[in-house]
Amino acid sequence: MTFVVIEGIDGSGKSTVISLLSRLLPRVYVTREPSSSPIGRLIKEWALREGTADPRVDALLFAADRIEHYKREIEPRLREGYIVICERYVESSIAYQGAAGVPIEYIKFINSAVPKPDITVILDVDPEVAIARVKQRGAAEKYEQLSFLKRVRGIYLSRAAEEGYPVLDASRPAEEVAKEVARLIEKRLGSRESTS
Ligand SMILES: Nc1ncnc2c1ncn2[C@@H]1O[C@H](COP(=O)(O)OP(=O)(O)OP(=O)(O)O)[C@@H](O)[C@H]1O
Ligand SMILES: [Mg+2]
Repeated sequence: MTFVVIEGIDGSGKSTVISLLSRLLPRVYVTREPSSSPIGRLIKEWALREGTADPRVDALLFAADRIEHYKREIEPRLREGYIVICERYVESSIAYQGAAGVPIEYIKFINSAVPKPDITVILDVDPEVAIARVKQRGAAEKYEQLSFLKRVRGIYLSRAAEEGYPVLDASRPAEEVAKEVARLIEKRLGSRESTS
């Protein structure tokens, strides 16, 4: 019944770390945003392409996808007792659409319908390293540009300082990063058991 979100720029290793985590922890349900819903598909097939939507439209689509994703997928799994690990959530909207020029207060407002995660972890890596990692995957998406990812990283780090999110050095081997995230989750689970 713990809602964990893994954040970080493209290529920081979120998907890699999450797949390792699902082997380190019991009863894990893994999901990601954009979701597999029709709104998520619209984002992937249209909004994430180069030079398409206005950044406010992106922000609105991501927020709409997130409300559906939370209600239809995340909340039911939490009720069933899973540790839900989600790749990207509200902080991705703040960092990416914020870097694209949308006021952060506007992004926070349109995301106020969904609850905060129990744990948000930021995987931090130099954008040059991240770009080199994702280049091996093929054509870059519209956000995968060095100057843009530098701004995204800056927002993630200032949000982490404001909100107290743990920032993990994700230039290390993924196994090491995953073990550290697992320890953070276990600590949180342990402290909850001892208070309830
Ligand atoms: N710690 C690491 N060290 C070296 N390479 C890594 C590490 N973590 C991931 N990679 C490699 O970098 C690439 C991107 O990793 P991954 O897909 O996990 O990143 P991501 O943060 O999920 O990216 P996206 O935001 O695009 O979903 C993959 O080829 C992966 O194998
Ligand atoms: Mg990924």
